[in-house]
Amino acid sequence: MSSGRETINHDPIKYWKSLVLPIIKATDILSLLIKATIAIFIAASISLIFFFAFTNQSFCFPEYQTIVRNFNNHRKVTTSHHISHQSNYEKTNISHILFGIGGSAKTWNQRRHYCELWWKPNITRGYVWLDERPPENETWPETSPSYIVSEDTSRFKYSCWYGSRSAIRIARIVKESFELGLDNVRWFVMGDDDTVFFAENLVSVLAKYDHNQMYYIGGNSESVEQDVIHSYTMAYGGGGFVISYPLAAELVRVLDGCIDRYHYFYGSDQKVQGCLTEIGVPISKELGFHQMDIRGDPYGLLAAHPLAPLVSLHHLDYVKPMFPTMTRSDSLVKLRGAYEVDPGRTLQHSFCYDLRRNWSVSVSWGYTVQLYPTLVTAKYLETALLTFQSWRTYRNEPFTFNTRPVSPDPCERPIVYFLDRVEMAEKGRTLTTYKRSKDESVKDCDRVDYAPALAIQSFNVSANQFNINLWNKAPRRQCCEIISGSDVVDGVIQLHIRGCSGFESVTPL
Ligand SMILES: *[C@@H]1O[C@H](CO)[C@@H](O)[C@H](O)[C@H]1NC(C)=O
Ligand SMILES: *[C@@H]1O[C@H](CO)[C@@H](O)[C@H](O)[C@H]1NC(C)=O
Ligand SMILES: *[C@@H]1O[C@H](CO)[C@@H](O)[C@H](O)[C@H]1NC(C)=O
Ligand SMILES: *[C@@H]1O[C@H](CO)[C@@H](O)[C@H](O)[C@H]1NC(C)=O
Ligand SMILES: *[C@@H]1O[C@H](CO)[C@@H](O)[C@H](O)[C@H]1NC(C)=O
Repeated sequence: MSSGRETINHDPIKYWKSLVLPIIKATDILSLLIKATIAIFIAASISLIFFFAFTNQSFCFPEYQTIVRNFNNHRKVTTSHHISHQSNYEKTNISHILFGIGGSAKTWNQRRHYCELWWKPNITRGYVWLDERPPENETWPETSPSYIVSEDTSRFKYSCWYGSRSAIRIARIVKESFELGLDNVRWFVMGDDDTVFFAENLVSVLAKYDHNQMYYIGGNSESVEQDVIHSYTMAYGGGGFVISYPLAAELVRVLDGCIDRYHYFYGSDQKVQGCLTEIGVPISKELGFHQMDIRGDPYGLLAAHPLAPLVSLHHLDYVKPMFPTMTRSDSLVKLRGAYEVDPGRTLQHSFCYDLRRNWSVSVSWGYTVQLYPTLVTAKYLETALLTFQSWRTYRNEPFTFNTRPVSPDPCERPIVYFLDRVEMAEKGRTLTTYKRSKDESVKDCDRVDYAPALAIQSFNVSANQFNINLWNKAPRRQCCEIISGSDVVDGVIQLHIRGCSGFESVTPL
């Protein structure tokens, strides 16, 4: 061993100091300190002069006074027992959210079925913002949110050659919503006319955050090409994005200027994000917002949902129906049937293994079950099947999450089951059944060891309703067990999903 290295290692701190700190003599330090003090003093005086010079000009903040007043009005300290964990305010509920839906008068009738699926008149608050008044001879549907015609935006600049000026109007919805001055609004939620929100889950997500702070919440595009073109730092508008009241208060002051400054940006979401960058507030990403910038079959994405509440789906007109034997809108109604009995559990993943038969089962609650007649790892089950392509170029990659290809060999594919029925078994417990769905374009695997699995026609899955307080805890996928004994009755396998016990893992020992 070299002795030189030995001595240095004896005193690692001294060694690091000698590397990191240049050697400075005491006299140098003194003169440096004096110079630094003078420099700081000069800088401070200059900034003070500037500060007074500019803040004295009242035109700088013409709207600020009204905003601050509005801001203070709605703050009511409560002494309820329902105290959210961050503050003394009552827990966030649906009434604290003001939705702003970007619509257009000409297309609302084709799009409104998306909104009406989740909109609850007199419960959800908000407006559809239209480009013009809807035709006089048609009555506005009661099942839709009320509409407001957006302000004129012809004075703003827009120069993105492949985009549409409507982006300006839609970017300003958050401002116009704020300026309505409605009471008790904690969160402004923006969405497109084809965004489907899962409002209870949205509330669960927002309840984790302190609405008195400046938050910008949402998700990226799934297609990397989109994130590269438009930005990774932006919450995509189709998946919906959220702005807390205090952040909206700051945003409305500067938004119009940003719209001109970012005239070359394509979308409304991008213009808003440009502005938020000026304020300095980054996105807080939440995995349940789905822009759905994909083409083809959304199955793989939906069947491998991350461990987070399902908050939104978008672009459903551009992908295949979620259930292969149904129309797009019937598929959505089906999924929402499960969602309504157990919002928090919807699409949540659980894995079970049958170690006697060497089977692996992946459940995406409320949507699908996959049966693998082999033992496959949790890591494999967790990864999305690549049933879709990228948004712009229809490619197989890359996405912002990992995927695994769907094998052309039927013996390498799972047997797939889709949600059939949903019921409340008893208080707090659901029973969902999933039926075999045969893809007619693919032959069944004819290997002998596959035959017993192919005989399974359906899965009965029981689960307790998901306790939404779990979303405030460290995330952990729930556990699943196979209830049916060695013999399968009528081709039905019974599963039970429950929280995992300590030291429980799907690792076969
Ligand atoms: C929501 O919370 C407010 C308190 O801010 C309360 O007055 C209201 O009754 C709650 N609404 C619902 C639907 O729980
Ligand atoms: C909503 O409230 C209004 C006024 O309170 C009432 O007239 C209307 O029937 C309600 N609508 C629904 C769908 O409950
Ligand atoms: C309203 O008027 C337009 C043209 O003026 C017509 O095309 C449309 O069918 C009318 N709608 C109803 C509900 O009468
Ligand atoms: C299950 O797999 C194990 C290990 O791979 C093997 O030893 C066992 O025979 C298999 N059992 C069945 C029923 O195939
Ligand atoms: C599965 O669930 C259905 C109800 O959806 C029920 O009729 C059937 O008896 C159940 N089968 C088993 C084996 O539990």
